[in-house]
Amino acid sequence: MIKIAPSFLSADFGDLESEIRRVEAGGADLIHLDVMDGHFVPNLTFGPIVVEAIRRRTTLPLDVHLMISDPTRYADAFLDAGADILTFHYEVGGDLAGLVEKIRGRGRTAGVSIKPATPPSVLSPLLPRIGLVLVMSVEPGFGGQAFMPSAIGKIEALRREIDRTGARVEIEVDGGIGLSNIRDVARAGAEVFVAGSSVFKGGQVGANIRSLREAAASEK
Ligand code: DX5
Ligand code: ZN
Repeated sequence: MIKIAPSFLSADFGDLESEIRRVEAGGADLIHLDVMDGHFVPNLTFGPIVVEAIRRRTTLPLDVHLMISDPTRYADAFLDAGADILTFHYEVGGDLAGLVEKIRGRGRTAGVSIKPATPPSVLSPLLPRIGLVLVMSVEPGFGGQAFMPSAIGKIEALRREIDRTGARVEIEVDGGIGLSNIRDVARAGAEVFVAGSSVFKGGQVGANIRSLREAAASEK
């Protein structure tokens, strides 16, 4: 099943209420929220207080992407705020399995993300316990960057591993996704497509989501 997850990094933060209504009316499956700490990535966004404000205004699942150096320290705050999927980066190190169990223990979906330079094989030990892998197709930190084709082979490898082991894990891709590459990414085996600039551009949110979904579905 194809899921489109608009990234609010490209939304108007002065009018989040309208942006939420636009993505809901446009048929988004998830809302992707990018949390940055100015340390793991060279940019800052928002914390649990904004996630909680969005939670109060929508029933769409909140897909929270933590680009922060110490996700264990803040996991409870984001779970309290209403994250449905809580994704942290493999590269932060530490007790990743423990963090996965904390998220699962609260009845939410644990996700693990890899940056462009991290091989997908590192995720194998975690696959039986997580619900989502997030393959970054840009260096995390900013919207509007160009898609890195090296993500395709990583998605294919994860698809093979997940199918071989029967793990119940969705493959999500994030960064530079648009009409020029979403077919290739879908063919490689991704099912959840994060898109910021290509969803919010031109204000045609519903039409943009529909075109992305149709293009991805044509490869399934
Ligand atoms: C980048 C974020 C992405 C970003 C995607 O670090 O994780 O979610 O918003 O934006 P686009 O789709 O514009 O590349
Ligand atoms: Zn993201």
